[in-house]
Amino acid sequence: MTTPPQDTGSARDLTQGLTQDFDPRAPETFTSAHALYKEMRSSCPVAHSTAYDGGFWALFRYEDVKRVLDGRALFTTSVQNTVPRFAFTGRRPPLHFDPPEHTAYRRVINRFFTRDRMAALEPRVRESAVQLLQPLIEAGEGDVSIDYAQKFPAHVFAAFFNLPTELAELIKEISAAYVAAIQIVDTDNVVRLSRRLYQIAQAVIDERRAHPLDPGHDLTSALMEAEYEGEPLPPDMVLGCVRQLLVTGMVAPSVFIGNMFVHLSGDPALADLLRADASRVPAAVEEFLRLYGPYRGMARTAREDVTIGGRLIRAGEPIALVYTSANRDERVFPDGETFRLDRPNLARHLAFGGGVHTCPGAPLARIMLVTTLAEALARTSAFEVSGEITMARWAEWGTNSVPMRFTAAAR
Ligand code: HEM
Repeated sequence: MTTPPQDTGSARDLTQGLTQDFDPRAPETFTSAHALYKEMRSSCPVAHSTAYDGGFWALFRYEDVKRVLDGRALFTTSVQNTVPRFAFTGRRPPLHFDPPEHTAYRRVINRFFTRDRMAALEPRVRESAVQLLQPLIEAGEGDVSIDYAQKFPAHVFAAFFNLPTELAELIKEISAAYVAAIQIVDTDNVVRLSRRLYQIAQAVIDERRAHPLDPGHDLTSALMEAEYEGEPLPPDMVLGCVRQLLVTGMVAPSVFIGNMFVHLSGDPALADLLRADASRVPAAVEEFLRLYGPYRGMARTAREDVTIGGRLIRAGEPIALVYTSANRDERVFPDGETFRLDRPNLARHLAFGGGVHTCPGAPLARIMLVTTLAEALARTSAFEVSGEITMARWAEWGTNSVPMRFTAAAR
């Protein structure tokens, strides 16, 4: 059973102006944000923060987040789609667009994440996973975030986007610096690095023009060829879309993968259970996605005044959808802070968002995560965290560094 949001009205909004209910910039440990969010869900589920130039609202409960995701008439992504707002260098479909404009891009993108395509890509994803994991396991130690999670997505993207691995690695490096600059609100570097990513996206498009690939097999070529209502997609928006695709999918796996290893280090019985029965790894990954979802600053903007959880949100004010908190909401996921392998309603989690902007890359993300975990478990008899964990900062949640010790499986 879920509890609907309570629109009880709040005198505080009307008489005291906007408050600082929480600070997204506070330093965090692996557990602190979730402890805070549990408290916020009960005491201040629709919170305001004065951080980031003008402040923003944050929704911590599942039903409130869901209401915004499902309420397209009232909420838009075209004004501000992340908190903090950093799209200074241009609009990038599909995330920055609402339907119907948004639909034109998603139609093309969705075709590249079908079951058949994913099955065809899986061996290359697995090969990359093994190639990067094996040296850590053989050495008996390594940083699973720095040495693995921050490298692996570039290899997968090279295969998925038909790019040379060196170029994908460069994109990964610049994306990581771009995200780090956003996290510390270093505007000059955000703009500089974003422009650099645009240049790379343009170079990929130029390369396709010079050496065409089959648009049935290459997403960049498909966007360049696509039409919507009889017209080609505008070249600057194709560029924005390639720029977004190249970066978006690199970020989340990098901060997510280490979380699974931290969890399993603290629960070796679960690791052994999954070693004994690899068919349960996909279910474990799904529960890890619920527990450790990396996005908390994806945003919408209210098109008109709206009351959520008794608080008045004015037209034009940004609203962060704190998926990281909604996924542990005990009103929807009983005992939500705890890992459970067979949650009956696990499919309701919002790690990949919901509504029209639901992550198109989810099938690829799942293959990346499942192959990583399955290969790491099969090749080890044990592993444990061996040093200090470093966390990413808002708007992402997850690990930036996880030093680990590995015991290789007996062969
Ligand atoms: C662990 C991995 C991933 C997670 C947790 C994740 C999560 C998300 C979430 C929550 C959204 C919705 C944003 C919103 O509500 O505003 C999203 C959108 C998106 N994701 Fe992912 N993602 C992952 C991997 C990927 C990958 C591998 C790709 C591409 C290869 C990708 C491409 C995109 C794109 C293009 C959008 C924008 C969709 C739209 O606006 O219609 N993601 N992702």
